[in-house]
Amino acid sequence: MKNIVTARAHTNIALIKYWGKSNIDLNLPTTSSLSMTLDSFYTTTSVEFTDKATDSLILNSVSADSTRISKFLDMMRTQYDDFPKISVISKNHVPTAAGLASSASSFAALTAAMFEILELEKNKQEMSRIARRGSGSASRSIFGNFAVWNKGWDDVSSYAESFYNQDIGLSMIVAEISANQKKMSSTKGMQLAQTAPTYNSWVKKSALQLEEMKSAISQKDIEKIGLIAQDNALGMHEQNRLCQIPFDYFTNQTRRIIDFTNYCYNSGLLAFVTIDAGPNVKIITDRATEQKLLTRFRAEFPEMTFDVAHAGGGYEYL
Ligand code: ADP
Ligand code: DP6
Ligand code: CO
Repeated sequence: MKNIVTARAHTNIALIKYWGKSNIDLNLPTTSSLSMTLDSFYTTTSVEFTDKATDSLILNSVSADSTRISKFLDMMRTQYDDFPKISVISKNHVPTAAGLASSASSFAALTAAMFEILELEKNKQEMSRIARRGSGSASRSIFGNFAVWNKGWDDVSSYAESFYNQDIGLSMIVAEISANQKKMSSTKGMQLAQTAPTYNSWVKKSALQLEEMKSAISQKDIEKIGLIAQDNALGMHEQNRLCQIPFDYFTNQTRRIIDFTNYCYNSGLLAFVTIDAGPNVKIITDRATEQKLLTRFRAEFPEMTFDVAHAGGGYEYL
């Protein structure tokens, strides 16, 4: 039996979003979602058995609140044979809780590490289901390239699977507006959004968009992918503004980036936005256009950081 195991998983960005739960405890979603795993943003997590009285978390070299990982590990203790307390040491190569999917890479990495240390059979469907319990979006980070999380109807039927395991040349330019931790977590934000009177129509539209997105990916049609993803994401943020206690992840900088992206598209370049639960914007484009866009964005927004990400791989052991 190994004493210490290290795993890495990459973040993923949803092109069709998960933004609402039908079961909070089980993390069952109201919509199926589809994402691309990114190569340049990831989490590395080591787990070790300990005879201490509690699970613990060291995140980016600092002792951190272990409530969420401990709840996750307790869930695993009930699903599998009970096991001793775990000390978790994790490093995010992505800003934590800034809307760049640190919960996806971190719970996928923790799941992979736990499967290895507990010597469980690495069935990806089961790993995805377990990762889902930590954070819904983590269900998709088990896989590389494109993954679909079929919403299912219960704990057993809700898991992600590889959809199209190929790099189709899609690029994401990440405009880093703020690496600060958000005030409204994804978990809380999506539950509020579900109170919007328009929420059910967003859910219905999302099911149609998912089918269109799948065919756009199979056709490697990046313009179609971008148009659908942008509409789906902007619709998600609209629910936040229309719900019972309205809130908005966008800042003025977010809106300026969106406007400039639209301007670039109207001037003939492939450029679309998608935005998660935070102010940072991901610009969807292709390999042939990314340098041109980077030059334009850096000139227009000299104070901001821009990184490029491409399709990344599934979980791995180090
Ligand atoms: P994000 O947009 O980054 O996914 P979320 O609100 O969904 O933001 O999740 C952020 C939370 O995920 C953090 O507050 C923390 O509880 C958890 N988290 C992030 N990174 C790690 C990590 N490396 N190890 C354990 N938990 C983590
Ligand atoms: C906007 O997976 O972070 O990034 O399941 O409560 O942990 P919890 O939420 P989380 O939500 C992600 C929301 C999103 C869209 C997406 O990744 O699909
Ligand atoms: Co998250």
